[in-house]
Amino acid sequence: MKLSDPEFNRLRKLVDEHILDFIPNIDPKSKTLYESMKYSLTAGGKRIRPALILAAVELCHGDASQALAFACAAEYIQTYSLIHDDLPAMDDDDLRRGVPTNHKVYGEGIAVLAGDGLLSAAYEVMFKNMLMFLDDPDALNRRVRAAYALTKGTGVRGMIAGQVADLESENKECSAEMLDFIHDNKTAAFITACVLAGGYLGGADSAMMEDLRVYGNNLGLAFQVVDDILDVIGDVKEMGKSTGQDAEMGKNTYISIYGIERSKERARELLAKARGAMEKYYDEAEVFNFVLDYLESQIA
Ligand code: IPE
Ligand code: IPE
Ligand code: MG
Ligand code: MG
Ligand code: MG
Repeated sequence: MKLSDPEFNRLRKLVDEHILDFIPNIDPKSKTLYESMKYSLTAGGKRIRPALILAAVELCHGDASQALAFACAAEYIQTYSLIHDDLPAMDDDDLRRGVPTNHKVYGEGIAVLAGDGLLSAAYEVMFKNMLMFLDDPDALNRRVRAAYALTKGTGVRGMIAGQVADLESENKECSAEMLDFIHDNKTAAFITACVLAGGYLGGADSAMMEDLRVYGNNLGLAFQVVDDILDVIGDVKEMGKSTGQDAEMGKNTYISIYGIERSKERARELLAKARGAMEKYYDEAEVFNFVLDYLESQIA
């Protein structure tokens, strides 16, 4: 199954069309920096995280086009995290989004800085957007909360903590508890932050925020289990990244601890929990349900 749902594609297209709009004007002397950032940004990510931000805004009957700065900021963070994740000092990968990894093209130094540049650009675009609403306390409040959710989920008590634990557990025995910590932080925290950010931007009430949180957390955990499964059984061409890397790097994954079949069961359980959280929204949750269907089809 391809990422082919019309509603998902509409949001993905919106992100793709505007992905470079929020990059600050870079001095021509920093051309290499801009090119390396653009190289990874436009290489063809699935845009699941920004699409979920926009989908959550629309679930609140908000206007997705008004949330693009935040959606693109999330994709800048996603892209930076992948550029750094692929570096020789981390997962040492050669292929990403169907093309050679950033450091293979631009060298390690520029790849580190392109990642830093994308992370800073994400913060800059969110602050710049907030500045436009200083006279509208409600709109400002929603944006501050969204920015806080995104920066917290991807920060030192979120994605970065997970990446550190992932690195430190290489080639070591890892408890089930530690594996949960890795998944919770390196992947689920960011995905949860995206749906929460969309909820804040759209003005969701507390009951809807809780549904979004449950959806995001379970989807996020399933996302990493499926990613780990695909590292073993996936197709390089379809995924645009190498397979067999986790075993080669001595990573602790769901598969290394529980095996493929139990991992598939676990992924389905988590996807079902995520689906349950969105049940009451019926057709309005099309994009949310589609992402679950897509992941489930990947391990069918
Ligand atoms: C890859 O995320 C990183 C993980 C958390 C497994 P995606 O599979 O969403 O990667 P892109 O953004 O589509 O390239
Ligand atoms: C990375 O997990 C998650 C991030 C926070 C970037 P992986 O290392 O498994 O992601 P892939 O398989 O390289 O995309
Ligand atoms: Mg990694
Ligand atoms: Mg990796
Ligand atoms: Mg992986």
